Amino acid sequence: MTDFTLLAGTANPALAVAVAAELGVRPGACTIERFPDGETTVRLDEPVRGRVVFLLQPTGPPVNDHLVELLACADACRRSAAGRIIAVVPYFGYARSDKRNGRREPITASLVARLMQAAGIEHVVTLDLHADQIEGFFRIPVDNLTAVPTLCRTLRSGLPPGTVVVSPDAGRVRMATEYAHRLGAPVVVLHKRRAGPTNTEVTHVVGDVQDRFCLIIDDMISTGGTIARAVEALIAAGARPEITIAATHGLFVGNARTRLDHQAVRRVIVTDTLAAVERGRPSFQVASVAPLLAAAIRRLRADESFEELFRDSPLSVRPEPPTYQELGRET
Ligand code: R5P
Repeated sequence: MTDFTLLAGTANPALAVAVAAELGVRPGACTIERFPDGETTVRLDEPVRGRVVFLLQPTGPPVNDHLVELLACADACRRSAAGRIIAVVPYFGYARSDKRNGRREPITASLVARLMQAAGIEHVVTLDLHADQIEGFFRIPVDNLTAVPTLCRTLRSGLPPGTVVVSPDAGRVRMATEYAHRLGAPVVVLHKRRAGPTNTEVTHVVGDVQDRFCLIIDDMISTGGTIARAVEALIAAGARPEITIAATHGLFVGNARTRLDHQAVRRVIVTDTLAAVERGRPSFQVASVAPLLAAAIRRLRADESFEELFRDSPLSVRPEPPTYQELGRET
């Protein structure tokens, strides 16, 4: 019998099943429902008293509903005397609201951090946070993992020699450098100017892309506007019309897929942190972060270092599924 409980919200059931399979456990039983007025209700259908509970819930669209579910699950665990509550939030909603930009605005990422702690969450595991400083909004430990090694493993097959890694804006240069280091490629940076919440333009291409294959990387694809404008700027600067795109979080809101349906886009690779990915189109590929999240959970239970999780080696050591007796359940 395991000494922890893996509970999942409704945001990404397929990821929950994949993480549970990697760990050789079955997700804990809980009921999450919505009242007709939109309120969320949670009921734990098995005891968690004294247990370490891992709450798996990416807070992707609909962000507010998924966030409240996570908070309600944590509150339910706390009130049911769970030993320790660890939130595994592969996609951290509101991460882009990490500063005030000098205007009368909230810092919602900071508010979310306070809400999580108020709900009883004692440790957060997340993935490719939009901004590293979000960790500073928490008083509790935050492990910010990265999907870059996972995505690089998928990218290596099929990436043409001489590819350059393109950062779509100044904020992603560090991530682009990480890709470039792992793939042995140079980095090109685009200068992005934001003209509104969903309106951006590329003003400069910093680096040589003439006749080069390009890999555009980003932490997330939301409306697809950033990537679409990056593709146009690279083509205008002489890049080969065979562009690959890699991003950790595929939100694909609105007409993002149509925007990425550019004749120069050959391949789009995202991870399964969010449930929204349509696998029907051959140019869209999904690299699973389930082995990475499972490895993090295993290491947290064993108080082991996360160092290996940042290396390029594959992590999946899928064990044999446990028997019902081992899980402490009746057949
Ligand atoms: C911006 O700073 C982010 O890193 C992403 O580039 C951006 O949020 C993607 O959003 P969209 O797909 O709507 O342009």
